[in-house]
Amino acid sequence: MRKPLIVGNWKMNQSLRELHSFFKELGAWRWSEALDAGICPAFPHLAEALRLKGNLPLWIGAQDCHEADNGAHTGDVSAAQLKDLGILHVLAGHSERRSNHHESSSLVNRKAAKALSLGLSPIICVGETLEERKAGRALEVVTQQIRESLAGLKPVVVAYEPVWAIGTGVNATPDQAQEMHQHIRSLVEGWGGSPETQRILYGGSVKPETTAALMACPDIDGLLVGGASLKAASFAAILDAAQLQLQKG
Ligand code: PGA
Repeated sequence: MRKPLIVGNWKMNQSLRELHSFFKELGAWRWSEALDAGICPAFPHLAEALRLKGNLPLWIGAQDCHEADNGAHTGDVSAAQLKDLGILHVLAGHSERRSNHHESSSLVNRKAAKALSLGLSPIICVGETLEERKAGRALEVVTQQIRESLAGLKPVVVAYEPVWAIGTGVNATPDQAQEMHQHIRSLVEGWGGSPETQRILYGGSVKPETTAALMACPDIDGLLVGGASLKAASFAAILDAAQLQLQKG
């Protein structure tokens, strides 16, 4: 059985003070062994987040890494540096990296390969734009992203995040998400992703109120949450809703 994974992507948000409040409040949440959880703060906050999380059973991950071990890459952070800090999870190919930083699927593939080679677990993000969906090309675009981003890698967590649903308040309907997740599963299982362990997360305007319906979909194994993960109460409400849905089966 695939253990659900709920990940908060904090993007370029949160002050140190907010980071402290988040952990203070989240510490009171009743953790369950039934779920895995993680959050990805901005680079400058990773060390403090690791310290603050203490024994809480959630991991701290990064939002990106460079494909090289070190070198003349001003402003970048390597997977080796993340590992050195004790960070073992990293996002790769988030649509904001793909669009704002012109990251191609082949670069995403090299970043993920580097992370894997050092023992980090990447979460590879894919998703179509609104224009691509309207043109009936969503499956084709995501297939291409999956083929190039995951080429030659051992199975990794994949996050399907339709670009039109990110930060817009419009999430994909459970049917739209399920259709794409089923498709992605057929692709990644074709390359060795096991039906028992291959996790595929949905992301894009997830909120506590939309969690149960998404998590009820057979091929949605977890969530990548932006805005609604910034406050501990809202992140905990998503964890609660996911857990409740799990109990319902
Ligand atoms: P959102 O972001 O939940 O704020 O839409 C999701 C993401 O970009 O990972």
